[in-house]
Amino acid sequence: MAYSDKVIDHYSNPRNVGTLDKSKKNVGTGLVGAPECGDVMRLQIEVDETTNTITDAKFKTFGCGSAIASSSLATEWLKGKTVDEALAIDNMEIVEELALPPVKIHCSVLAEDAIKSAINDYRVKNGLPELEVAKSHH
Ligand code: FES
Repeated sequence: MAYSDKVIDHYSNPRNVGTLDKSKKNVGTGLVGAPECGDVMRLQIEVDETTNTITDAKFKTFGCGSAIASSSLATEWLKGKTVDEALAIDNMEIVEELALPPVKIHCSVLAEDAIKSAINDYRVKNGLPELEVAKSHH
């Protein structure tokens, strides 16, 4: 299967690979796996609590090229967004931006799930109720 130029770009030069300090109260960690293929993605956000804005985002993905590209792109999009704006990121925006073929859509769902899981972790750590956000995998 042919990858798009944008996938190849993110795959060969992934942005924001790394780890944020989990012990910090303003860091949220999302860890999700795709049942379809067993790939795993960890995505973390650091939030400025006074402005509710994401100041940093990092990821580590053990998965296919599309999953790595999706999470790399997601971390780029997350920086500077408010938590509410981040919640609104839809996997189909990632599909569009990276020109993912249908068989690779679940790779982008993994990124959306990881974002929401990171936000929920941040919320729970800060005494906020967890949101019902998990997307169902097909
Ligand atoms: Fe499973 Fe891409 S093939 S995340």
